[in-house]
Amino acid sequence: MALATRTGRRPSTTRTLWDSSVGKKSVMAVSGLVMLGYLVAHMLGNLKIFFGADEFNGYAHWLRTLGSPFLHHEWALWIVRVALLAAVVAHAVSAYQLSRRDIKARPVKYAHKRRRASYATRTMRWGGIILGLFIVWHLLDLTTLTVNERAWAGHPYENVLATFSTWYGNTIYIVAMAALGLHIRHGFWSAAQTLGAGNARRDRALKSLANTLALVLFAGFVSVPVAVMTGVVS
Ligand code: HEM
Repeated sequence: MALATRTGRRPSTTRTLWDSSVGKKSVMAVSGLVMLGYLVAHMLGNLKIFFGADEFNGYAHWLRTLGSPFLHHEWALWIVRVALLAAVVAHAVSAYQLSRRDIKARPVKYAHKRRRASYATRTMRWGGIILGLFIVWHLLDLTTLTVNERAWAGHPYENVLATFSTWYGNTIYIVAMAALGLHIRHGFWSAAQTLGAGNARRDRALKSLANTLALVLFAGFVSVPVAVMTGVVS
């Protein structure tokens, strides 16, 4: 409305939606679900490590030749990368703007009592920050190989083993996977509410689904460092 008065023009529907809290929450929900889809696929792909180096490295090679000969080498991978980057940016920007709004909306006269954000809100904010930092580390570790001391380009199986042969590699990944589990548990539930999937009858089923997804992803991802640490994968 304020925009319409200042410029004399009506804001577009997209602009009005983006300016509203419901619009930003919807962007968070949809981008979160896109990332969740990627995580399920990534976790399943990672489990190939239990079938040996050839199978895992072959899978990494297949990812790069996906869509060939119609698509050029790595094009499909780049399409996925661009879609994921868009989802991460949309998710982070709307989360940041919603939390600024929430802080501004707190009544000043209660400043001495400092009304605190709920436990779930604080867990989501800290979880989001931890996951953002983890993604940067993870890309430097296993994609660009910048921080992986024993990296061997084109050999992801050996690189994963190198990562999980250090105490800090295991610590970073396991802490991040715990943050991921908690983030998905609450995030999936919130997304379902925002997108209108919840109602009195379905709420219990949605909560169980959120818990199951969080647990399966946590266990699936963590099984890789645990398998390397215990010598099951070597
Ligand atoms: C123990 C847990 C994980 C392991 C062992 C793992 C393993 C890997 C490996 C080996 C690669 C490189 C693949 C290749 O170059 O072919 C990779 C890439 C990637 N991983 Fe993970 N990952 C884990 C968890 C995660 C999580 C939780 C996320 C997201 C929050 C994530 C997001 C990504 C992304 C975005 C890429 C880059 C894909 C690309 O553009 O090539 N990973 N991961």
